[in-house]
Parts: sequence; C-alpha cells; structure tokens
Amino acid sequence: MSLRGFRPSDVPFVAAVVADALHEHYDPGLYASLSAEWADGFLIAADPSEVPVGFLLGVSQVDREARVLMFAVDRNHRERGVGSLLMSTFLDRCRARGFRRTTLEVRVSNATAIRFYARYQFSVIDLLKGYYSDGENGYQMARPLP
Ligand SMILES: CC(C)(COP(=O)(O)OP(=O)(O)OC[C@H]1O[C@@H](n2cnc3c(N)ncnc32)[C@H](O)[C@@H]1OP(=O)(O)O)[C@@H](O)C(=O)NCCC(=O)NCCS
Repeated sequence: MSLRGFRPSDVPFVAAVVADALHEHYDPGLYASLSAEWADGFLIAADPSEVPVGFLLGVSQVDREARVLMFAVDRNHRERGVGSLLMSTFLDRCRARGFRRTTLEVRVSNATAIRFYARYQFSVIDLLKGYYSDGENGYQMARPLP
C-alpha cells in the first residue's frame, strides 16, 4: 500500500466511498478546491496497481489547527492497516506544519471510528446536537499535537 496526493482522476473513487461509507453526496468540484488549499492534507492510499482504496481529507480552517473533514477506507480493504497508515501520516504532516491540535466530528453511533480515533489519542470535547442532516448527534473529538 502506498500513499500519494489527491489527483482529479481520484474523484470517482472518493465520491463512491463517500456515498457508501459516509452517506454523503458533494459537488465533485469540492474535492479539487479543498485540495488546492492544503494539498498535503489530502491523502490517497493506493494498492500496488495504483487503484485507490482509501483517503483522508484534512483542512486547516482555524489558525494552527487541522480538521479531518472526511476519512474512509473502501469496505473491502478495511482492518488491514490502511486507515492507520493514513491517520499516522496525516498527524505527521500536521506536526510538520506546526499545528497545535487536530479535530474531527463523528456520529455518536459510529463505534468503529470512535474506537479507531481513541487509539490515536483523540478524545471527545463536545456533543454536537443534531449535527448530521438526518438529525443524529455528533461528537467533536480533538487530539493535541505533537
Ligand atoms: C474508520 C476507518 C477509516 C478505519 O480504517 P481501517 O483501514 O479499517 O483501519 P485499520 O485497519 O488501520 O484499523 C482498524 C482496526 O483493524 C485492526 N487491524 C489493523 N490491521 C490489522 C491486521 N493486519 N489484522 C487484523 N486487524 C487489523 C486495527 O487494530 C483496528 O482495530 P481497532 O480500531 O479496534 O483498534 C474505516 O473503518 C472506515 O472507512 N469506516 C467507514 C467510514 C467512517 O466511519 N469514517 C469515519 C467517519 S468520522
């Protein structure tokens, strides 16, 4: 498995995983515009044939902070360390930029992701009532850096 930056040709893969895993549908142009803001924050994991299998899209909207906006691995490639490779590399890049913390939001029902984030030393800092479009509550989680 290798990591590389986002390319415009990744949009169909990213949009399909976002629809399947996150149940969201965004304007395809969103990905390129977010990538343009902080190219190193948008990581694609690809198999040896260069086929994408997962991604992490991070942004920096607050001074010296990063936020994981979207993070998903194709369901046929989970529990093999792809998510860990994406997250550990992303945190390294946050440190290299001198960020003081990384935040994210997660559905309160998403026990798998919450356990994963806890393993990466994220902890819940806020309950976001009705945060998701279907009314589900979210947790805001944060991890101080380094
Ligand atoms: C959260 C998510 C990105 C994690 O990706 P992943 O590639 O499965 O992550 P990893 O393989 O690195 O780790 C997942 C688990 O597999 C285990 N694992 C990793 N490699 C393994 C291996 N070779 N053999 C067995 N287990 C392994 C890890 O220990 C980990 O367990 P834990 O979370 O209980 O500690 C993935 O579950 C996903 O895409 N979920 C749907 C989308 C989603 O919920 N995104 C987050 C929204 S906020």
